[in-house]
Amino acid sequence: MGFPIHRPRRLRKNENIRRLVRETTLTVDDLVYPIFIEDGKNIKKEIPSMPGIYRWSLDTVDQELEEVVSLNIPAILLFGIPSHKDEVGSDTWSDEGVIQKAIRHIKKNYPNLYVITDVCFCEYTTHGHCGVLCNHDVDNDLTLENTKKQVVSHAKAGVDMVAPSGMMDGVVKAIREALDSEGFKDIPIMAYSAKYASSYYGPFREAADSAPAFGDRRTYQMDPANRLEAIREVQLDIEEGADIVMVKPALAYLDIIRDIKNSFNIPLAAYNVSGEYSMIKAAGKLGWIDEKKVMMETLTSMKRAGADIIITYFAKEVAKILKNG
Ligand code: PBG
Ligand code: ZN
Repeated sequence: MGFPIHRPRRLRKNENIRRLVRETTLTVDDLVYPIFIEDGKNIKKEIPSMPGIYRWSLDTVDQELEEVVSLNIPAILLFGIPSHKDEVGSDTWSDEGVIQKAIRHIKKNYPNLYVITDVCFCEYTTHGHCGVLCNHDVDNDLTLENTKKQVVSHAKAGVDMVAPSGMMDGVVKAIREALDSEGFKDIPIMAYSAKYASSYYGPFREAADSAPAFGDRRTYQMDPANRLEAIREVQLDIEEGADIVMVKPALAYLDIIRDIKNSFNIPLAAYNVSGEYSMIKAAGKLGWIDEKKVMMETLTSMKRAGADIIITYFAKEVAKILKNG
């Protein structure tokens, strides 16, 4: 009973019928916007490889926050660039740390903006690795101890949700126990569960000044060749108490997003990372692609693959298009 009884083109005749049968819709409700906060004053520095994305200090960032709020973007994800780095990244658990000050500023002035913090150490350590070093590698369990101090200080500053991105084993359990024992049982954890050792993070490392001084992150981040391991990682994080799980990067890992979606019943985030943003921006600048259309198509593909939440540097631009067409 194929052609000519069935003519799939009938349902593509015009925009109205296409709207009626459309399976995937991107909305502003799906978006999380990352923001880089640098300790200091009067800073608004554009990241050369990420046009439109800036490092802000707390005395300049209001212009960005007001735009995010006015576009009705539900949440932001904070990254910090501290004024002081050391071997262990002690700024991450200082009550006067760059992120703690940022959380207090934002929650005081924009109480309805949902604030998520990236929980890691690479922007705060002199060596640029995601934890405490021991014999030229990151020591998992020592890093967990510092992670507990970090999340408790974020919680005390008023954060809404924490997102551990260092790929340490057992980090979700450690965070859940630390938060619960300090009276923060209602703060959820979004786990960077399947985070790959990806070259798509290049522009971010410039943005956050977090490139490793030696070696790479392959002893803690996942091998890009692995698929089943992502399922195991997500399973472990759910068992440890993750509220939301994440796949990162997104575009080269759409198969992983779909695998996780099919395997688990839990909200799933996809991180449309810096390199994915830069490639579209660069090709757009050269006039080689229609930047806005490629942006919308790319983010729709992540939603179609199974993401419930998309963390993206495009969030403001997408929100504007969804609002005004
Ligand atoms: C820190 C962290 C990274 C990203 C988010 N958190 C970089 C890394 O692991 O080197 C990448 C974000 C992006 O590329 O947009 N652990
Ligand atoms: Zn890190």
